[in-house]
This record gives sequence, structure tokens and C-alpha cells, in this order.
Amino acid sequence: MKPMEKRPFQIRRMTPKDISEVFQIDAQTAALYWPEKSYHFEVEKNDASRCWIAVNTNGTILGFLILWLIVDEIHVANFAVHPEYQNQGIGTALMIHGLTCAWNEGARVSFLEVRAGNHPAIHIYQEIGYEPAGIRKNYYQDNYEDAILMNLESEAYKKLLDQQE
Ligand SMILES: CC(C)(COP(=O)(O)OP(=O)(O)OC[C@H]1O[C@@H](n2cnc3c(N)ncnc32)[C@H](O)[C@@H]1OP(=O)(O)O)[C@@H](O)C(=O)NCCC(=O)NCCS
Repeated sequence: MKPMEKRPFQIRRMTPKDISEVFQIDAQTAALYWPEKSYHFEVEKNDASRCWIAVNTNGTILGFLILWLIVDEIHVANFAVHPEYQNQGIGTALMIHGLTCAWNEGARVSFLEVRAGNHPAIHIYQEIGYEPAGIRKNYYQDNYEDAILMNLESEAYKKLLDQQE
């Protein structure tokens, strides 16, 4: 994956004030249907959480990424870009930023689950270096869709970060 070019948005930590806007993105993308209180828990209480948002020059939140750091593993917990701003590289930039910061905190591998039919997300994860590692049958409660488990192993993780330099 090529290094990210300079983009007209910034990535910063999510704060409690950002949550209502983030929740609107969740509602519009139906990534995981988290209730608003889950975002408060992640930002205010969960020490393992690393919550990022992409913001444009007007201060509009374009997308978010929630990761859980557990020793040397970084898990992708929730991730979405506002429908009007998709396909402009924002999701990829959020992932690279989150993974870079997590590496600096000691993460060396990453794991995630993705709906088997979510081709845009699977595409991004594969571009980053994640590889399919298994299937959880009927994993999602809303439609019983299968989940694909994907792993970013240490070597691929390091390669991704080296490419950003
Ligand atoms: C997944 C998601 C966060 C990606 O964000 P994004 O900002 O649109 O992503 P980017 O613009 O960085 O990258 C989009 C890539 O997906 C590709 N893509 C878009 N639609 C696609 C499709 N239907 N099939 C395959 N690839 C697709 C684009 O071509 C692009 O790839 P490229 O960089 O090789 O050209 C966004 O689509 C989203 O919010 N989806 C709904 C929520 C969700 O599914 N979250 C993930 C939960 S695991």
C-alpha cells in the first residue's frame, strides 16, 4: 500500500463532545448498531479503547475508528465513514493512523471480524495487509451473516508502517 498523500482532513482522538455526531454516522452506515451509550463507555471508561475521528476543515466529523489495545494485539472494534464521504481515502487513512499509533504503544498484530458481504471493508483490510483467517458462521445477530476473521500478522504490520515513511 502506498503512503497516504496529504488530505483535506485531520485525524484526532474522539472526545465525549464528538459522540452525538459519531452516533449519527453509525446510524447512517449501520456498521454495528452500537447504542450511543457504548460510545460513551469507549471514550470515557474503557482503558483499552483507542477512539479516532477524521474531521474536515469545517470541523465536520467524516468518519471514526474504535480500536481495542490488549497487550500486543490491536482489535478493530468499530469503523465507519459518513456515506457522503466514502471512497475518498478517509477509511484507509483512519486505519493507518490507528495502527501506527497502536504500534507505538506496543501492538504487533491486529485482528478483526467483518461481514462476509462487506466488500469495501474487506478490500481495505486486504490492501492494508490483513489476511482471512477463518469464518464464524451466522455471527451477526441482525441477519445471521457469516463473519470473516482477518489477521494482520507482525511482518505485514511492520511492512505497512515501513511503507508510510
Ligand atoms: C468500510 C468503510 C469504513 C471504508 O471507508 P472509505 O473511506 O470509503 O474507504 P477508502 O476510501 O479509504 O477506501 C475505499 C476502498 O474500497 C474500495 N471499494 C469501494 N466500494 C467497493 C466495493 N463495493 N467492492 C470492493 N471495493 C470497494 C474502493 O475502490 C477503495 O479501494 P482503492 O483504495 O483500492 O481504490 C466505509 O465503506 C463504511 O463506512 N462502510 C459502512 C460501515 C462498515 O462497513 N464498516 C466496517 C465494519 S467491519
